[in-house]
Amino acid sequence: MQLREKTLFYGGDYNPEQWEESVWQEDMRLMKMAKVNFVSMNIFSWANLQPSEEIYDFRTLDKIMDMLHENHIYADLATATASPPAWLSTKYPSSLPVGESGKVYTHGGRQHYCPNSSVYRKLASELVERLVKRYKDHPALIMWHINNEYGCHISECYCENCVKAFRTWLQNKYQEIFTLNQAWSTDFWSQKYYQWEEILLPAKTPNGFANPGQMLDYKRFMSDSLLDCYKMEKEIIKQHTPNIPVMTNLLGLHKAINGFKWAREMDIATWDSYPEPHVKNSYGDMMAHDLTRSLKKTPFLLMEQAVSHVNWRAYNPAKRPDQMRLHSYQALAHGADGIMFFQWRASQGGAEKFHSGMVSHCGSENSRTFKEVVALGEELQALKEIEGTNIYSKVGILFDWENWWALELDSKPTTAVAYLNQVGDYYRILREYNVSVDFVHPDEDMDAYQFIIAPSLYLVSEKLTQKIEKYVAEGGTFLTNFFSGYVNENDQVYLGGYPGALKNVLGIEIEEFDAMIPEWTRQFSYEEQLYNCNVWADSIKLENAKALGYFTEDYYAGLPAITQNNFGKGYSYYIGTQPERPFLQMFLQMILEDLNIHSPLMVPKDVEVTVRENDKHKYVFLLNYNKNEVTINLDKTYISCLSGEIVTGELKLGILGADVLKIEKY
Ligand code: GLA
Ligand code: ZN
Repeated sequence: MQLREKTLFYGGDYNPEQWEESVWQEDMRLMKMAKVNFVSMNIFSWANLQPSEEIYDFRTLDKIMDMLHENHIYADLATATASPPAWLSTKYPSSLPVGESGKVYTHGGRQHYCPNSSVYRKLASELVERLVKRYKDHPALIMWHINNEYGCHISECYCENCVKAFRTWLQNKYQEIFTLNQAWSTDFWSQKYYQWEEILLPAKTPNGFANPGQMLDYKRFMSDSLLDCYKMEKEIIKQHTPNIPVMTNLLGLHKAINGFKWAREMDIATWDSYPEPHVKNSYGDMMAHDLTRSLKKTPFLLMEQAVSHVNWRAYNPAKRPDQMRLHSYQALAHGADGIMFFQWRASQGGAEKFHSGMVSHCGSENSRTFKEVVALGEELQALKEIEGTNIYSKVGILFDWENWWALELDSKPTTAVAYLNQVGDYYRILREYNVSVDFVHPDEDMDAYQFIIAPSLYLVSEKLTQKIEKYVAEGGTFLTNFFSGYVNENDQVYLGGYPGALKNVLGIEIEEFDAMIPEWTRQFSYEEQLYNCNVWADSIKLENAKALGYFTEDYYAGLPAITQNNFGKGYSYYIGTQPERPFLQMFLQMILEDLNIHSPLMVPKDVEVTVRENDKHKYVFLLNYNKNEVTINLDKTYISCLSGEIVTGELKLGILGADVLKIEKY
């Protein structure tokens, strides 16, 4: 994804309509100073653009677009559909979303629309049509930004529009009500449906547990409903500007939105990152960078971050000097082709006035934070050539939103198994070893990876089962853990012993499991060492696999806890409990060593290394999360992209420092 010349995107959300025009000229001066080349605008302008149903007014937007062009700043033009005007909700109350308890959300905040409201969709599409026709040839326009953070506040709606739309969605999926009844196992608790009209949304039920098949379909349906809104706008845009990239800003590890499915409709993946400043290194945000890059397996955009503090947590510390720079380098190191902020100028009023901006309330170009903004803008100029370079990982983590939804529905053996925690445990250990990770969707090719890890892969289709078996048979290494392989796409258990769909490839059979209470720990032995474990213990019977570790306590003492199976040309590993971290670290390291997968460079603790590359060069990113200077012993002679100097031998990285070193590939 390129600007018209090769460069990295730099800028932020720009909301000049909140300011007198006299401020705009100062904005342009400061943007130039900071080397801003790209701004997202018009995101929340619907009420300005359309004073009433009959009247549109694009005069202010015309001026802003022209001003950007005159100042050589490109526009990421938003469609403004994220916050409908008050007249719309007043005139058409059915456009408002409804909570699970039946309460209608009012306008007065934002995102107050039901995705299945036909009037919202109609008025949104009319606005988009006008916008696109008006600005399609505008020289400032280089990207379309549809809506904003879909599903951030309203990811579920329980209104009348949604019940009807849900029935239609179900009819399309199942055709026959008989098929739905089977998929939802409705012979249980007398839940059988005879008419489509009898089906409701899974809201509050007397005993708390709604039908799991219905709940899983509802999650799919809501993600699809929001996606339909996105696609509706995208189609209008593509009709008039087929060559201008279209995207929306996603939220990374956002449960409600099936990122892989959405990314197919996006020309570039993007997300908004708000790491907590007091956390040394936010692995959650790092993971979301990798996940966002993995959605399309190409570079992504960091669409929003804060220059310093946010205002929406209970406590909102400022980012320390150089911390924003380090966060920005982290995004680049994981594949970002642009660094954007929310927002350009901190608002004077409104609910986000205490959120930091690139220009703070003091307005001074000499403020600490603005100086950091300017310095980063200059550095990105020196890093232009990394635009378009990609990351190639040998390790893939299987990641599936449908599995996330199914795993975390209620009525499970334990509430202690949360998907992101499970995935995060493995991800973090790999990253602590500086091993590059891609997230892999079940439909994707796995051949590029030497090692596939599937934490808590509870829901597995038959197709995925076959794919994993083929992958291992042909020489791949596969690892999964307890409560994986249990159910099909309808959340129905594979009978004949756990782990159902993965029994064959793992060469084991599990007759029963023990979901522990939080106070319990048990032990298992592995190579003559004892390790603690908790949460879960499987009773594993070996079929073809061999045991690598055994439980030493409770009624499963003597039964395998950790197994390895030689399947065709490859190996699969199973961990039948939640082991303490040192075990997982040791175990993953052993497998990585077997596979000859290493950090690109040996570095001190809490220093991160990643590599981006193109045909000719490798770009080694070095990031120091420590509050002290560190020394890195370089293995080769590099060129520092920032200084242009040759670096060899020892390299010093300052407190929260970051550098990018370049080397020719051949
Ligand atoms: C989100 C939104 C922005 C703003 C920021 C504040 O990312 O997209 O409009 O509210 O959060 O952090
Ligand atoms: Zn609704």
